[in-house]
Amino acid sequence: MAQPTQDPAAFLDAHAERARDELFDFLRIPSVSARSEHDGDTRRAAGWLRDALAAIGLDAALHETPGHPIVLGEWRGAPGAPTLLVYGHYDVQPAEPLELWDSPAFEPTVRDGNVYARGSVDDKGQLFLHVKALEAHLRTRGALPVNVIVLAEGEEEVGSVNLEAFVEAEKARLACDAVVISDSAMFAPGIPSILSSLRGMAYFQIDVQGPAGDLHSGSYGGAVPNPAMALARILATMHDADGTVAIPGFYDAVRPFPDAVRAQMRALPFDDEHFRAEAGSPALGGEPGYTVLERLWTRPTCEVNGLLSGYTGEGAKTVLPAKAMAKVSCRLVPDQDPLEIERLMAAHVARVAPPGVTVTVTHLHGGRPWRADLGGPLFDAAKQALAEVFGREPVVTGEGGSIPVVGDFQRVLGATVLLVGFGLPGENAHAPNEWMSLDNFHRGAKVIARLYDLYAKA
Ligand code: BES
Ligand code: ZN
Repeated sequence: MAQPTQDPAAFLDAHAERARDELFDFLRIPSVSARSEHDGDTRRAAGWLRDALAAIGLDAALHETPGHPIVLGEWRGAPGAPTLLVYGHYDVQPAEPLELWDSPAFEPTVRDGNVYARGSVDDKGQLFLHVKALEAHLRTRGALPVNVIVLAEGEEEVGSVNLEAFVEAEKARLACDAVVISDSAMFAPGIPSILSSLRGMAYFQIDVQGPAGDLHSGSYGGAVPNPAMALARILATMHDADGTVAIPGFYDAVRPFPDAVRAQMRALPFDDEHFRAEAGSPALGGEPGYTVLERLWTRPTCEVNGLLSGYTGEGAKTVLPAKAMAKVSCRLVPDQDPLEIERLMAAHVARVAPPGVTVTVTHLHGGRPWRADLGGPLFDAAKQALAEVFGREPVVTGEGGSIPVVGDFQRVLGATVLLVGFGLPGENAHAPNEWMSLDNFHRGAKVIARLYDLYAKA
């Protein structure tokens, strides 16, 4: 039995095994937000998290939305001290294709010090390490040095469609000095990292309808326009030959990254060939005039995420398909606005759509891009906490992924946002064999526990 102690870090060491067991229970719940057959599991994960927050002494409750519930936990026992809001998500991506997992996606398995499970790093492990940091303070001292709000959603992986309205409606309750989020990766093993930016998102579905039903491609082909070809033509207009996006107006609102930030990015130890090999791609590509990291972190994109039309089974079938569909998403950078990009995309597609088919563009979800103000007491506290726990100064990195609510936190709550992640390159987020380093899980909890003390004193 561990001795009672006043030191949160010692508490985390003494209770590391229990923390893992609890994390594994959380990971066993298949909270796949995209799939309605998992709605019950997703709600179960929300309830599990609410109970975990209540067990350590927070006022915790579920808040219903038109989709998956929001979990809110509050501890407001430090009047006069600042308030931190911790954000994370308890939903996970679908685990398919299941046959590519070396151990079952929802049976956490430890190999080489890493836990393999869907959601291990994105984001249950990174969210739960915050719960463990809170517990370490509350169990050792009976109090936190700051007020804390924990806000966890179950729809991040499907675009956070109900969260902006919740933040707007509850903005008085969610009022805080700063937001802390762990839902990203460190630059490299052993190199702690603070994020300076996230890209935003505008996600579309393009449907092309041709004839009322599939037709014999011999009896009708050549005289009836083919929707698969029409879609291919539309998609081919989205980029110039050199990889720049050719949708008129697309770059108008792009605000260049400051030279100092670009210089910082260029100074990071980054090997293009290593990145290419990790991606498993025959070559790298992208906009001319930018380094790989600049392409990923500072430039907007337009990507096809899915394509569907006609016969795709074994062998050959001569058919003129009735319809074709593409999922297309744009990653955005400051100051691109998802609603404006939606307007530009719809206008562009309407302009280039070939005759003889009906084309519709549906906007599925969007999120604003975000850029950090790297300075102030929270940033300084995070730098120090990371340096103490990892034994080296953190680097400042950008990020190509998106966390839709971050822009809303800044805009609606006026709060500073700190993104400090404990994932690692190659962690297979969204892919088979997702993993999180258990050492980073443990260290991450220590960093956050230390951050509270340093920030409270700042
Ligand atoms: N954890 C990621 C965000 C992220 C991605 C951080 C890559 C660092 C590296 C998050 O869960 C995520 O996947 N977000 C989605 C948002 C989208 C559905 C709007 C994304 O980026 O695709
Ligand atoms: Zn994700």
